[in-house]
Amino acid sequence: MKEKLLKLLEDNRNQFVSEQYISECLTVGNVDICKYIDALKEEGCDIESVPEKGYKLLSTTDVLTYEKISSYLNTKYIGREIIYLDSVNSTNVKAKELAANNSVEGTVVIAEEQTQGRGRLGRSWSSPKKQGIWMSVILRPKMKSQDAVKITQVAAAAVWKAINHIGISAKIKWPNDIVINSKKVCGILTEMSGELNRLNYVIVGIGVNVNTDMDSFPEEIRHMATSLMLESNNMVNRKELAALILNYFEELYDEANNYGSFTNSMKICRENSVLLGKTIKLTIKGEEQEVRALDINEEGELIIQDKEGIISKVISGEVSVRGLYGYV
Ligand code: BTN
Repeated sequence: MKEKLLKLLEDNRNQFVSEQYISECLTVGNVDICKYIDALKEEGCDIESVPEKGYKLLSTTDVLTYEKISSYLNTKYIGREIIYLDSVNSTNVKAKELAANNSVEGTVVIAEEQTQGRGRLGRSWSSPKKQGIWMSVILRPKMKSQDAVKITQVAAAAVWKAINHIGISAKIKWPNDIVINSKKVCGILTEMSGELNRLNYVIVGIGVNVNTDMDSFPEEIRHMATSLMLESNNMVNRKELAALILNYFEELYDEANNYGSFTNSMKICRENSVLLGKTIKLTIKGEEQEVRALDINEEGELIIQDKEGIISKVISGEVSVRGLYGYV
């Protein structure tokens, strides 16, 4: 209820909302309204209360600025420089611009909203204002390009750990999705610049549907999209979750970049995979085939077996994975 009240005040930002209106919209009594307003104030929301007029929201703490995220952050360099934007076309696009202009490794571009959020395989990514975490991390890995593709799995493992940390049970759908109850809650888009043996930079774009309402998803993806709030019936603290993702990401990325070890990331991806042991539909360059997903190896490749029993490896590149009857 407290979250619904906050949303109502946010929807009417900078104007008074009367107790009567709140009570009608949320079917709640005046005593309870006072109680929830007090709780919101205690959490740091700046709410002006005027008798006869009602309540006006002046500011909230629900913003993903460095100031707000840093109290949860325990990293050395990931997220120590945060470029915070209220609105941007795509944080990946902005991150690429910054990376090309020598931004330091670990710089994070984070936006409250993306107007042209980008997904894998040329798809778009719905990024409604303040309902998710839309961020891109700039990396300058020492590894070769063929190893850097595995950074997607490092990020997937970090997001899985962060979601698990806040008590929500999720699965990883190779190569780059996090799912809950067979619906997608997070996608990762890794883009790189460089030549075969000389990486210039890598951008890891992470999109998590945190407090997204079903109505905010475009209609065509509602059957396969969800948010942490919808799955847990609770608003989730975006600042804490963003920091947890960055904390776990630095830990796993350091192992890979400093010691060449992707073992822990791959283990997390394997042990929490939603695909392994299942028959799935793989589409590679427009060609669809039905295969059994057997394993994920140390290279981050999916090991599959076709109908003839032939076992092969698939790299994540241009591949789309679906369950036999839907998204998983
Ligand atoms: C996918 O599942 O297709 C990948 C989605 C990646 C979305 C994130 S949101 C932050 C970053 N900026 C973008 O434009 N895309 C990624």
